[in-house]
Amino acid sequence: MTITDQTRTTTAPILELDDIGKRYGNVHALRGVNIRVRKGEVTCVLGDNGAGKSTLIKIIAGLHDYTEGSMKLDGEETHFASPRVAQSSGIATVYQDLALAPLMSVWRNFFLGNEIRKGVGLDIDEMKKVAGEELTKMGIVIPDLDRPVSALSGGQRQVIAIARAIYFGANVVILDEPTAALGVKQSGVVLKYILKMRDAGLGVIFITHNPHHAYLVGNHFVILKLGRVVLDAHRDELTLEQLTGEMAGGQELAELSHELAGADPGKVVPPAPDGAADVVAPTLAADARAELLEEEQDESL
Ligand SMILES: Nc1ncnc2c1ncn2[C@@H]1O[C@H](COP(=O)(O)OP(=O)(O)O)[C@@H](O)[C@H]1O
Ligand SMILES: [Mg+2]
Repeated sequence: MTITDQTRTTTAPILELDDIGKRYGNVHALRGVNIRVRKGEVTCVLGDNGAGKSTLIKIIAGLHDYTEGSMKLDGEETHFASPRVAQSSGIATVYQDLALAPLMSVWRNFFLGNEIRKGVGLDIDEMKKVAGEELTKMGIVIPDLDRPVSALSGGQRQVIAIARAIYFGANVVILDEPTAALGVKQSGVVLKYILKMRDAGLGVIFITHNPHHAYLVGNHFVILKLGRVVLDAHRDELTLEQLTGEMAGGQELAELSHELAGADPGKVVPPAPDGAADVVAPTLAADARAELLEEEQDESL
């Protein structure tokens, strides 16, 4: 196939998964997975719950070993013995919740596991200075680096983890559903940093179940379903509508709409005149809570 535009690079892949499979006892969580990750590209891995996305990340990040196939980093077959080995090989992972230690300060988190030392102690001044500079470079304004990370918004936390990965020289950055818990505005911020990483020449693996987010930044799309790759396409081979359709699962939607055929989806049910308060109240409370949560998330960034 010819290279027609700038949506793909021609360099050798930094990370190659060939026929990768993973069994957990009787559960065949992944099988026959082929993925190429290139520097300067965003590779999106999409799939529903149970598709095998986390298993895939854990293999690349050194948490689990694969049981079938081969994984090559820079052309060399690799089995990571631990996450630390994967990290020192240039693979950084930004986990959705575990990205940072919530009770530690921003600068402490930035250097966690890579502290700058001075004599027998830590060079706190230097670490604060560098963390501040690096975050500023990424366009992140955090007035007080001594604040615990738990005081920051979800988007800010993701971005700190991203800045850290770039600073410590990662070649490949894996992001596990970084936008899943975020509102629209904060998701936009994280997506912008995904592009920054691409522009910095990193190989980015963006795990998501949101085809819209994927299509905003992705060069290459892989959909997993029940542990297998069901779609593998470059941007120039696929429209957003096709990606969304594949994710929604055309066939399954058709079956679902058949099942719901008698459900009358447009119907509006007026509130019962009295005695129904017990049933209605919890629903309202849940809605109100969701709204509040959303407001909280949209507050900063
Ligand atoms: N540690 C484990 N032990 C046994 N089964 C697992 C384990 N982790 C995941 N699985 C199974 O593997 C399949 C893929 O899971 P996972 O990789 O978490 O998917 P996703 O992240 O796409 O939701 C699921 O059927 C899940 O139940
Ligand atoms: Mg998962």
